[in-house]
Amino acid sequence: MRQLLVTGGAGFIGSNFVRHVLEHTEDSVTVLDSFTYAASEAALTGLDPTRVQVVRGDIADATLIDAVLAGHDAVVHFAAETHNDNSLVSPAPFLQTNLVGTYTLLEAARRHGTRFHHISTDEVFGDLELDDPARFTESTPFNPSSPYSATKAGSDLLVRAWVRSFGVQATISNCSNNYGPWQHVEKFIPRQITNVLTGSRPKLYGDGLHVRDWIHADDHSSGVLAVLDRGQIGATYLIGADGERSNRQVIADILRLMGRDPDDFEHVTDRTGHDRRYAIDATRLRTELGWQPRYADFEAGLAATIDWYQEHEDVWRPAKEATEATYAAKGQ
Ligand code: NAD
Ligand code: DAU
Repeated sequence: MRQLLVTGGAGFIGSNFVRHVLEHTEDSVTVLDSFTYAASEAALTGLDPTRVQVVRGDIADATLIDAVLAGHDAVVHFAAETHNDNSLVSPAPFLQTNLVGTYTLLEAARRHGTRFHHISTDEVFGDLELDDPARFTESTPFNPSSPYSATKAGSDLLVRAWVRSFGVQATISNCSNNYGPWQHVEKFIPRQITNVLTGSRPKLYGDGLHVRDWIHADDHSSGVLAVLDRGQIGATYLIGADGERSNRQVIADILRLMGRDPDDFEHVTDRTGHDRRYAIDATRLRTELGWQPRYADFEAGLAATIDWYQEHEDVWRPAKEATEATYAAKGQ
């Protein structure tokens, strides 16, 4: 029975991981989260108070981190600024949280001798051509495109250096695009579902042929737990569930599942530097750690996600109008 410190545990995937830990282990969790616009208190309500406590604070606050880390067996580090479009408008918070914040946590883990698991993204590898049969592996060189992905690549490199130079007991996982409940309406799938629910048309960037490799957040959580439990110290594991789909296909799926014409969307201004395709080869995680995704059927997972947004308007509605106004100002 461990005491885990989960940074960013009030966000989309962090809160999913907290619920996953409560359901599948005997561990207890401290959530450390600064509750930015992306966090949700509601995502943590109703959890067993004898096993979950929440601390509000910034991962870049060294004094706080030093005090909070004491008594924990492991840090699982999700906290980050996560939206590419925001990083193109205002990169500074991405450098502060993703780089300085990760550095601050690593230094505390070094002092306390705490096991560290770093959550990262497939975007550190840059992108692939649409007709390239290749997929990303653990040895693909870093080639990030956006301020967001550059800061995530930088944070991965900090973790690797702290393992080699200071002996920090760390692992890293790089996952593909997540979907599921509790994702902020700024992100692609929730934005399109809630557009349909509010009577607007889904918005497709550019030609929409860009490919993302979708995985349900529950499967990301089980992959992270596998690495935390059985991963080799110093190693990187890629997490993905063979879910490659073009953005155009995903919008058509959403429209069809919501009873609308699959062509009832509009093309909007493309994202600057927009990565063309991501694809993960998760062979190492599957063979070395015996991990398998549970959501083999993307459409079934998407249908359940649509149901969740239909039933949780109270969660997403407060952020919807301002999010759409920000997009509209950029022609998106
Ligand atoms: P999110 O934006 O939904 O949540 C991020 C959380 O971090 C929020 O609760 C926020 O309040 C918190 N946070 C931000 N800055 C903080 C700070 N300085 N101090 C403390 N807390 C802070 O993000 P998400 O989509 O759940 O992503 C979580 C992690 O997973 C990130 O590291 C991201 O890079 C990685 N990741 C995400 C995806 C994806 O598809 N969403 C895929 C692969 C990897
Ligand atoms: O690959 C993992 C990454 O996935 C994570 O590291 C990031 O934190 C997460 O935000 C996500 O990044 P993307 O940029 O791929 O996700 P986003 O939801 O912003 O966009 C998905 C795709 O959809 C991308 O090709 C851009 C496109 N898009 C997005 C929006 C918001 C649209 O076509 N229309 C939209 O309205």
